[in-house]
Amino acid sequence: MSYETIVVEQRGAVTLVTLNRPQALNALNSQVLADLIHAFAAYDADPDQRCLVLTGSEKAFAAGADIKEMEAQGFAEMYGSNFFAGWEKVTATRKPWIAAVAGFALGGGCEVAMMADFIIAADTAKFGQPEIKLGVAPGMGGSQRLTRAIGKAKAMEMCLTGRMMGAEEAERAGLVARIVPAADLVAEALKTAEQIAGMAPLAAIANKEMVNAAFETGLAQGILFERRLFHGLFGTEDQKEGMNAFVGKRQAEWKGK
Ligand code: CAA
Repeated sequence: MSYETIVVEQRGAVTLVTLNRPQALNALNSQVLADLIHAFAAYDADPDQRCLVLTGSEKAFAAGADIKEMEAQGFAEMYGSNFFAGWEKVTATRKPWIAAVAGFALGGGCEVAMMADFIIAADTAKFGQPEIKLGVAPGMGGSQRLTRAIGKAKAMEMCLTGRMMGAEEAERAGLVARIVPAADLVAEALKTAEQIAGMAPLAAIANKEMVNAAFETGLAQGILFERRLFHGLFGTEDQKEGMNAFVGKRQAEWKGK
């Protein structure tokens, strides 16, 4: 399947999605959203694909939502069309995915990176929520996800000043999992994705759901959710296989059931 604004490749069990609007620094217009919704749904539905990497270019992961598309819109159009609500279809992806970020990840670009299960950053990565400089504010979850990721002080400073945060500060603050040299970014992200793709598929989904529950619920509720999912995994053949392989000192063979 070919797309207008993204390139999708399958590398074994890993799907690599590359944003491809270089003339606009990968600004996220409606076509990008439509393409991503389709590609992520196809990934989620394909039992042979076990992890996905979303990346951009060396200069920009994505420089934000498309300002030229939004400029002339009024409240009635934005509210009436529930503008940006389509991103919930991307965050509904059940299987794991990683954002591999080099260069600018600004506004919606930073917000899409934060929708990923985790971010691997190139040493050139720059994160920011500069919407205030356009007279607006984040609209794709940035005020919520950034604050949960790095805490109120830094998130508030970034949203109120629009300043960018470099890769090292982002790692210190807990926004990114790991920094790698820019030249190695995609290779490193694919290597990590392959590692995840080698795990039991249902356990991967369960681990993702549990960690996300920590973001979305209180501690007692989150722990109960974790416990129930943990119990549930004992109904899968892969739990028997994984534990039996460990005891038998052999490599597990996953069935995804
Ligand atoms: N939307 C539309 N077009 C954009 C864009 C965006 N967010 N960001 C960059 N572009 C376009 C530029 O207009 C320019 O196009 P032309 O050649 O046709 O003029 C092209 O990409 C290259 O950009 P620059 O010439 O500006 O490149 P630069 O290297 O000088 O600067 C930059 C890079 C600092 C990232 C600068 O492009 C910039 O500040 N971009 C806007 C960043 C921003 O404000 N993002 C937030 C958008 S609002 C949002 O995302 C709302 C939300 O919550 C989802």
